Amino acid sequence: MLVKSTHFPGEICGTRNGSPLLFGVKTDKKLKVDFVDVEVSDNLSSFPVSENPQLRTSQSRAFFAEDGAPSAVEYFFSSDPASVVEHTKKVLYLEDNDIAHIYDGELHIHRATKLTGEESTTRKIHDLDMELNEIMKGPYKHFMQKEIFEQPESTFNTMRGRIDFENNTVNLGGLVGALSGIKKSRRMIMIACGTSYHTCLATRSIFEELTEMPVSVELASDFSDRRCPVFRDDTCIFVSQSGETADSLQALKYCKERKAITLGVVNAVGSSISRDTECGVHINAGPEIGVASTKAYTSQYIALVMIALFLSNDSLSKRQRHIDIIQGLKNIPAQIKEVLKLEDKIKQLCNDWLNNQKSLLLLGRGYQFATALEGALKIKEISYMHSEGVLAGELKHGVLALVDEELPIIALATRDSLFPKVTSSIMQVTARGGRPIIICNEGDDVAADMAYATLKVPLTVDCLQGLLNVVPLQLMSYWLAVNRGVDVDFPRNLAKSVTVE
Ligand code: UD1
Ligand code: F6R
Repeated sequence: MLVKSTHFPGEICGTRNGSPLLFGVKTDKKLKVDFVDVEVSDNLSSFPVSENPQLRTSQSRAFFAEDGAPSAVEYFFSSDPASVVEHTKKVLYLEDNDIAHIYDGELHIHRATKLTGEESTTRKIHDLDMELNEIMKGPYKHFMQKEIFEQPESTFNTMRGRIDFENNTVNLGGLVGALSGIKKSRRMIMIACGTSYHTCLATRSIFEELTEMPVSVELASDFSDRRCPVFRDDTCIFVSQSGETADSLQALKYCKERKAITLGVVNAVGSSISRDTECGVHINAGPEIGVASTKAYTSQYIALVMIALFLSNDSLSKRQRHIDIIQGLKNIPAQIKEVLKLEDKIKQLCNDWLNNQKSLLLLGRGYQFATALEGALKIKEISYMHSEGVLAGELKHGVLALVDEELPIIALATRDSLFPKVTSSIMQVTARGGRPIIICNEGDDVAADMAYATLKVPLTVDCLQGLLNVVPLQLMSYWLAVNRGVDVDFPRNLAKSVTVE
């Protein structure tokens, strides 16, 4: 939070709690010391400092040049060093509950609470020796890897300030005004492309269950090709990471012409879909740079679940289901962290078996059909290996002909009401000599003696399980691509924003 006031010109205060806040510090001379003292006051209620001169007495040592003369300083406030690096490579990170105050060109750092003996009494000014790309990638080799590992934070950020986990309620500021109109709609149409389309498939059933409205899911290009009938009492939901996808934009224009309510679920604030929709929810996942969408998938998924919860928040009969889902969402960031620990095992699986394969099938059913499709898309787009997501119930209607001892198959067999049916599909595979890799819950041993390997993920509420199950598949696609020498962040023939139809 930054505070400025017309009553105190030339002053600014900043503080943080949870989210980062840093200062870029640009000086014309080399500084004598590379830290700023933390000033502790007993009486912070007497802020602002300009009305309380005794708080100004501690002259900061920080901004004297080596020759002892004060140095002219410019400050840049930001939550991310990537945005200040073009101005200066010196940055100072605030800690939670620090209060920074700038006046007369001086930076002072105060504490709202008394320092315990263990806390540092200075804040270091760091030198960013790295180039912008490196800063943004952090310790990771590729943006995609960074974005996969960011998911515990990005999923949390999607929920931040919107879910009250104590009272089990959801409030989406971007939908409040449109809520009554949306609730009166006759049906919902979710429209998207690629990975964003898969999040719609993944959440369609919880939407139907909670809102009791018919929900259809459409690929934007096909929706426009068919010139689907759309009416003014429809709500059309556009899901897009970039907010600039031409196919989705064309469908949006079509729905607006027919006076339907349009709602966006978008990552890029200020993008065309975000601006052109009537209302919506930003997923707040942070910039996604790798062409293969990863953290946007999990955040869009959560945003859509939150919308379904918000639209049905007055239903008493669904109260317990709401509580279960909200408490499930609370645990998702920590559970994703657990799943990320499977990375070594997945690397090993790629090295031992999958690297040299030509094709891969992914089987899923119910909530996990979307996960199978998303896993298959990730694998083909960055490792260039053919892969196909198959609805487990469709296996016997044709795909079973492909199954033999050689074909790698991944089966999603986590616990939900369809678990017995999925295990029976796995039996159909193993009976033909197939040795699937099974993704199941901790404590389960699905076809353990017949499986090639088992990847175990924590259990969550049925409609959220896809958030955890997709992570091993993201990691697998990443390592298959790295092993094949593909430029993971920029796979051939693909672009991050698909702005042509
Ligand atoms: C908003 C602020 C957030 C602030 C919070 C405080 C923005 C972008 N968000 O978040 O910084 O902390 O209030 O209450 O300023 N919208 C669309 N289409 C879309 C996405 C969004 O029309 O595809 C609209 C929404 O209806 C809303 C606005 O954009 O009017 C901001 O949406 P969102 O960021 O989701 O709202 P809040 O979470 O309330
Ligand atoms: C796959 C991928 C694409 C996009 C699709 C839609 O990893 O990134 O399939 O999901 O092009 O893009 P957005 O979500 O920006 O509309």
